Amino acid sequence: MKKLRNSSISRIGKEFALSTADLRRIMREFRSEMAKGLAGGKSSLKMIPTYVDKPTGREKGDFIALDLGGTNFRILEIALKGGGRTGDPRIMKFVLQKRHVNGQGSELFDFIAGCMRKFLDKYRISDDKLDLGFTFSFPVNQTAVASGTLVCWTKDFSAKGVVGQDVVALLVRAFRKKGVDLVNVSALVNDTVGTLVAKAYQDTDCDIGIILGTGTNACYRESLSGIRKWRGPSTKSGKMLVNTEWGNFNKLKLNRYDTFLDAHSENKGYQILEKAVSGMYLGEIARLVLVNLVKDGMLFGEMGSKVFKKAVGGAKLFRSEYASEILGDRSAGLAATGRILASLGVRKTSTEERRVVRDVCAIVRRRAARIATAALGAVILEMDGRIARRHTAAIDGSVYEKMPGFAADMRAALVELFGSRASRIKLTLAKDGSGKGAAIVAAVAAGENRDSAHFSCGESVGKMGAVPIIKS
Ligand code: BGC
Repeated sequence: MKKLRNSSISRIGKEFALSTADLRRIMREFRSEMAKGLAGGKSSLKMIPTYVDKPTGREKGDFIALDLGGTNFRILEIALKGGGRTGDPRIMKFVLQKRHVNGQGSELFDFIAGCMRKFLDKYRISDDKLDLGFTFSFPVNQTAVASGTLVCWTKDFSAKGVVGQDVVALLVRAFRKKGVDLVNVSALVNDTVGTLVAKAYQDTDCDIGIILGTGTNACYRESLSGIRKWRGPSTKSGKMLVNTEWGNFNKLKLNRYDTFLDAHSENKGYQILEKAVSGMYLGEIARLVLVNLVKDGMLFGEMGSKVFKKAVGGAKLFRSEYASEILGDRSAGLAATGRILASLGVRKTSTEERRVVRDVCAIVRRRAARIATAALGAVILEMDGRIARRHTAAIDGSVYEKMPGFAADMRAALVELFGSRASRIKLTLAKDGSGKGAAIVAAVAAGENRDSAHFSCGESVGKMGAVPIIKS
């Protein structure tokens, strides 16, 4: 069995291997797609101008944030105190049902508005008009700081009648129906932007925001002259955050498991990088590898359960959380792994078999971390070709936070790519930043509305009526 394990693991390892040269090739292709996306040409990277720049850290006041991007969504009220400080937020979490995620768009927005009503009632928020930052973690063609149309759904969302619509207008309409009149939606923010902005409120080196969770994406700080498709006015800083929507990058070498997963996905041909990197898919890739081993009679003998026999699966059969638990199993006989497999219907497993399962999870994780690092490397080189400055990447998401070895794999790949210059790149976990970041962007935008022309932050273009040309 041990020999068998070594040979099959090394074969699988080869199918998922990415050499340093491969990573460099990904970086090159990624930069070329970035350039095309920034110029408004055909590209798998949408490179969306966000109408915001980093905050100054001086923003102040009470703001509401609404954070929608997964099956949970949150409403927060946050006090920004200036000097990079915030008070403890008041938070309510809600769970979306299938009918919200995959039904009619109006059901989704009505539900959100109903939750907002509950939030305002619970905390008796009724006195003044409140500014709200709406974190909406999907590809949106932003047309102003507080408006933008949904390009396509990702992850497992498919609510009808929303693609092509202004999501802020849909939210405001739903608010009106529920009598939520006090809330003024003053910013629409991707979660990567929220994460970056929340970190940058305290750390001036922060110029990248990354999500490695159910989905994956990154935003970074670009010079306006570099955004060749930008047709809006200039900003004081001459910079703007750009949402890359890197999950859709499609110049990756795919193996048979990736091809199979994509072919059976809801959004075939799209979100190719996301399908190799994010939590929605990592477990499923590992499962597909295990299914093959079971089929070849190399794993679980007669014991293989449905979970490991079904060709077409989905994110819920062998969830990425299981892979995380297995990768964190430190017991000699991999007892926790045995328990997970038993819960999935494989009642009896040998230690060797559990090791195979763990090794497969590690192979899939390592490739994901290396791809994410190559993409990150490309973004850093775009900002600073010689990596002469310090860069902080604020990273949020369950894969980065909870998958043992993921952060270490990323750090190792950074050193592999950039040698000693990698020490200028800080990867930092920025938990739950997206809501706080949305509140900060709302503060910036609200400030601008009040002062009309140039507001204190001076680094966001806010609602200046600019309409960029985005072809992709
Ligand atoms: C979406 C991005 C989002 C990312 C992380 C992707 O599926 O397209 O907009 O930032 O998930 O939530």
